[in-house]
Amino acid sequence: MTNHTPGRNCLIVAVLLLAALFGACKPSGEESSSHPPVVVFKHSKLFGDPRPLAQLLAEFERANPGVRVRAETLPAASDAQHQYYATNLAAGAADFDVFALDVIWVAEFARAGWLRDLSHLLPAAEREAFFRGPIEAVTWEGRAFALPWFMDAGVLYYRKDLLDKNHLAPPRTWDELLHAARTVTRTESGVHGFVWQGKQYEGLVCNALEYLWSHGGEVLRNGQVVLDSAANRAALTFMRELLTSGVTPEFVTTLTEEPAREIFGRGAALFLRNWPYAWRLFEQQGSAVRGKVGVSALPHFIGGKSAATLGGWQLGVNRHSRNPQAAERLAQYLTSPAAQKVLALAYGYNPPRRALYEDPELLAAQPFFAELRAVYERARPRPVTPQYVRLSQVLQAEFSGAVAGLKSPSQALIDAQRQAEAILR
Ligand code: GLC
Repeated sequence: MTNHTPGRNCLIVAVLLLAALFGACKPSGEESSSHPPVVVFKHSKLFGDPRPLAQLLAEFERANPGVRVRAETLPAASDAQHQYYATNLAAGAADFDVFALDVIWVAEFARAGWLRDLSHLLPAAEREAFFRGPIEAVTWEGRAFALPWFMDAGVLYYRKDLLDKNHLAPPRTWDELLHAARTVTRTESGVHGFVWQGKQYEGLVCNALEYLWSHGGEVLRNGQVVLDSAANRAALTFMRELLTSGVTPEFVTTLTEEPAREIFGRGAALFLRNWPYAWRLFEQQGSAVRGKVGVSALPHFIGGKSAATLGGWQLGVNRHSRNPQAAERLAQYLTSPAAQKVLALAYGYNPPRRALYEDPELLAAQPFFAELRAVYERARPRPVTPQYVRLSQVLQAEFSGAVAGLKSPSQALIDAQRQAEAILR
């Protein structure tokens, strides 16, 4: 393995210490001794070298003699994973124990009775250790049903070198972004202005909400659907204009996180909206944009405030797990400060634990960590409701129709309003 991972030695030490700590005490009432429990851990493939995660799991096994962990990966798209879990959990599947949930599913899964109540693993002091957003995301009717694993918030990546060359500052407003994109693409051939996630899927909702919110718009207010508003119309119209003006290529309507990241990563875009994980990949050896990338909060409309959608993944325990104690221990281990540090160093996944934002080693590996802390702290959750996935399907279709120019932004919002009201009635 090429030794390009920052702080790799510390990472190994951290893994060893961590395993020792978690293996030290085994609660009574452990599962059957005749068959060593196999804890099946399901999650989507992490973007990067699979070895650091595999190593964490191996150390957990060493520290918990008799427990085996089998990791199984699912496709990266949140929507596809949701379908898998909803189908299997509804059928009472017990063939996986610990699994990663998107922030938007906890309410739905908890209400359906698919998750083990993990409130005892998150006492008040422990809850304080996390940012508020991820804690709210794992809480349903006052109980905790998952443990925050890593958190996402939308950020803007920009090419420092190209902005500098044109004497431009990183944009604070969407207008400044338009201006910078037009200026730079006039002279840089083969460089698109701004790429983001415009395909009809969950990521589009995350993107669109950032425009709506940064214009003072909303989806719900006091439980009422308020989609059909002037602020939302202006925001959605701006998204469409990004395409008609050529600042964003039309093919953005096919892009999810990784294809958008790859375009920017091969030097073919000035701006990119993505989650924090992308930074580490831009900085790795052999990357065409290494040393040329800056990260900032997303722009806002004049008179509005920058807004980032809260994303991220939590670890839950299947209520039908046959190894609940071992499963809980694994979830706790993987969400501990030391494991979150490993995840941040090896994959650039942002920890939901506040204290890690002051960790010197992490700050050295991710110079934007401290600077972007406010973005993570203020990241806004998508509407928290057990009906979220149904609501999102409406938003995906309507936002996509407007972005692709198949219907006007105002018609899309009128249609979304009507359908959302029917779902949330
Ligand atoms: C990321 C986020 C998740 C979001 C998804 C959308 O995985 O962590 O919350 O739903 O992207 O594509």
